[in-house]
Parts: sequence; structure tokens; C-alpha cells
Amino acid sequence: HLLKEGKSIGIPTETVYGLAAIISSQKGIESIFKTKERPFFDPLIVHISSIEQAKKCVCHWPESIDRLARFLWPGPVTFILPKSPLISDMISSGLDTVGLRMPDHPLTLELIKLLGTPIAAPSANKFTRTSPTCYEHVKKEFPNLEVLDGGQCSIGIESTILGLNIEDKKLLIYRPGMLNKIKLENILDQLEISDLTVSYQDSPVAPGHLKHHYMPKTPIILCKRDTQVSELPSHIPKNLLMSLKKWTLPKDPVIAARNLYSKFREYDLENHTAILIQISEEQRNSDQFVGILNRLEKAATFKSFI
Ligand code: TXA
Ligand code: MG
Repeated sequence: HLLKEGKSIGIPTETVYGLAAIISSQKGIESIFKTKERPFFDPLIVHISSIEQAKKCVCHWPESIDRLARFLWPGPVTFILPKSPLISDMISSGLDTVGLRMPDHPLTLELIKLLGTPIAAPSANKFTRTSPTCYEHVKKEFPNLEVLDGGQCSIGIESTILGLNIEDKKLLIYRPGMLNKIKLENILDQLEISDLTVSYQDSPVAPGHLKHHYMPKTPIILCKRDTQVSELPSHIPKNLLMSLKKWTLPKDPVIAARNLYSKFREYDLENHTAILIQISEEQRNSDQFVGILNRLEKAATFKSFI
């Protein structure tokens, strides 16, 4: 009912919680930007509950995307495709494309089915801040917002965003997530889609790719696994090292991603001068950690890997 009245609400997904509104409600979409304090030039992802619904949001639904979407959805993958008139310029920030995703969460899938319309939803956090991975995170940031409680997010970092360059026959990873290059190549093999190659590429849209994003209030310092505090570079202000919280990134990428933003929020409440996150060489070279490292690098104030 709230959504139909043109309000925005918090919704659970398997990646992070979203701040949702019905795509046809200008009031609802405006309320997302206002609540998040997000600039209008940063486009929103549209969430659908069926392939049929996805097709209505685009003016072209390529065969390769159809096969990939049927394999990967519901799941943590967003496809950027040419939009149909159903998607307003406010949702796409004036671009002629739209990001589409079928979230793997029973409550939200049921909600979209009940509404009979797609919903637009960015992550439910203030612009450039840490994404929420449970009901409590959203309520803490937006106490007056109604939020559907769907428990803890199982993935923990935002979806992998994929673009398709038809001429060059390339699948482009604009934002890495838990599904990265090697896994995607294996899936293309499995689906016998032999005419597409996968590569990482900066998004044509700058906003989501700001240098700093996902930041907690406490500064983050990234360093190698066994770095001693005395070995940290001298340009890091000494006062940041007075009451350091150390966190060793878990070996298992699934656990590391699931806990990442909760740790940021937990340590933020404990009044440390900085959070020192230790990352192994193996993790820095692993495809399974690309998405996690992308978030860490954008959230970090200092990096010391020398
Ligand atoms: O996992 C997720 O993707 C979560 C959940 C809620 O689904 N959503 C999410 O939305 O992370 P948001 O708005 O926080 O990040 C979406 C990113 C933004 O950086 C935006 O710039 C980019 O997707 N994006 C949206 N539409 C786009 C488009 N048409 N072309 C290129 N990038 C786009
Ligand atoms: Mg976000």
C-alpha cells in the first residue's frame, strides 16, 4: 500500500537492502533520491520478478542475455540494456539504458509479483556510504522508513553489473561482485555461448564509480597480511594509529563478503581511530576477491601494500 501511494520502503535482497519505489511513480522515485541524498545524475537499478517483466523494460533483449539471465536470475547480477519507454528519465538519469536485476529473495520477489510492476531500488544507505546488509542497518540510518525484514543478506556486497558490447562481442563487468570473470567464463562455456568474451571495464556512468564510496565514518587503512603498525608508511597521521582496530579479511570469500559491511558498521560504533584491514597476497590476486577488494579500495582512506 505504501508503495502504491508513492512512498519508498526498505526491501531485502540477497546482496544488500534496497530503497524501493514503483517505477511508474514519479513521487516514489523522487522520494528515493531525497531520502538517500543522492544526486539525480546517478541512475537506479530496476528490480523485476520475471523475464517477461524484464523484457517490457527494454527495447532490445539480446539472445545471449536471455540465456544468461535465465541461468543467473534470480541472483546477484544486473544487466545494463537499452531501455523501453516504461523506464523514466529520472530512473535512468537521462541515459538510454537501464540496469535490470531479479533479486534472489523470496519476500521481495513476492512483493514485486503482488504489485505486478517492477520496482526501482538503489542500496538503502545515504549516498556514498556503506550499504546495509540487515534490517537493523536500514532502520538505524532511516528510523522513519518502513522496512521489510528479510534477515541478513546472504551475499553482502552489491550485484555484479554487466554490459554487453554487441559489435565487439564483449560482456563487460562494470562493477565486480561475487560473480566475476572466471565464473562468468565458465558459465558462458557451460551455456555454449562461444562468441562472447568477458572483460573488466570502467562504467560509462561515472557516479557509481566515484573514487570514494561505501565509506564508514572511521578511516580505513588497507595493508598486507603481516604488516606491523610500525611498518605503516609515514604519511598516515600518527593520531589515526592510537587506537587501531585490526581486522584480518576472512580467507573464505563468501564469509568475507557477507561480513564486510557489518564489520564497518560494528567498528564505527566502537570509537576506534582507524580500522586496519589486513589482506593477503593470495586474496589480492584472486578473482573471487575482485568485488570485495573493489569495495575495500573505495572505502579506504589509506592503502599500504608495499
Ligand atoms: O545489489 C545491488 O545491485 C543493489 C540491490 C539493492 O539490488 N543495488 C545497488 O544499487 O547497488 P545502487 O544504486 O547502490 O548501485 C547501482 C549502480 C550505480 O552505481 C549506478 O551508477 C549504476 O548501478 N547504474 C544504474 N543504472 C545504470 C545504467 N543504465 N548504466 C550504467 N550504470 C548504471
Ligand atoms: Mg549503492
